[in-house]
Amino acid sequence: AEGSGGGAGTLAGRVAVVTGGASGIGLGLARALARRGAQVLLADLAGAEAAADMLRAEGLAAEGIAADVSSEVATAAMAEAAETRFGGLDILVNNAGIYATLTPKPFEELDLAEWRRVLEVNVMGTFLCCRAVLPAMQRRGGGRIVNISSGVAFKGNPYMAHYVASKGAVVSLTRALATELGRHGILVNSVAPGFTLSEGVLRNPVLVEGVKGPSLRGRVLARDMLPEDLTGAVCFFAGPDAAFITGQTLVVDGGAYF
Ligand code: NAI
Repeated sequence: AEGSGGGAGTLAGRVAVVTGGASGIGLGLARALARRGAQVLLADLAGAEAAADMLRAEGLAAEGIAADVSSEVATAAMAEAAETRFGGLDILVNNAGIYATLTPKPFEELDLAEWRRVLEVNVMGTFLCCRAVLPAMQRRGGGRIVNISSGVAFKGNPYMAHYVASKGAVVSLTRALATELGRHGILVNSVAPGFTLSEGVLRNPVLVEGVKGPSLRGRVLARDMLPEDLTGAVCFFAGPDAAFITGQTLVVDGGAYF
């Protein structure tokens, strides 16, 4: 559908980097950006090349690179790869995050090493990727950054205090960077999804059983949320219709906050 109607060509000539792009929500976002005409670099711990092969087989412009977003060296190499392979960098989607692999636990039982790693990837990783792409976006005279937060940043959620705190930080970081990067023509916004049946989530029965029921009951639009439900919001922030919007977070959750 995105190839024909929904904004085909609106991102023509743009180069996008999607972190955590090898699977789940990230792969769905990468495909949607590419269908709108962007050339997309998928960055992930593993599997990015294979995912890019898949998108190329669909006739889309995609490349893959192995990168841990919590590594300063790797994020610099990721930004450089976008420029060497596609000639520039206009859009960064900070989607890589630790969520689907977590086991919900009361806060008094949360492991400190896990707390550190969740904050390191979800918050510091977002920060490092933003910093890494800055020179390339400045060379293009501007850019777009879309950070993937979560509805839990506003609503709270039991047994995932580290994750909830990390996604709250992503909302605040979005506002902070928007104030600094506007003068470079770089707009920074965030999309906060509700509980989404991504590949990663479907592999975690504890999450599917524990979260699916309550999140469905709390939703105005009473159906499962899929990665495709997020593509419109992300492509909007990445595209021409959002040219005067920065620092915002859009909650996409089928109406879970009424
Ligand atoms: P997922 O686990 O299916 O995919 C996450 C991807 O990020 C994986 O491909 C993983 O390899 C990659 N990744 C993890 N750590 C990384 C690192 N250090 N460097 C590079 N890549 C890394 O998860 P899902 O569900 O697709 O989530 C994507 C994003 O959406 C995450 O930021 C998550 O927190 C957020 N989100 C997900 C929701 C859900 O219900 N699935 C709800 C709200 C937000």
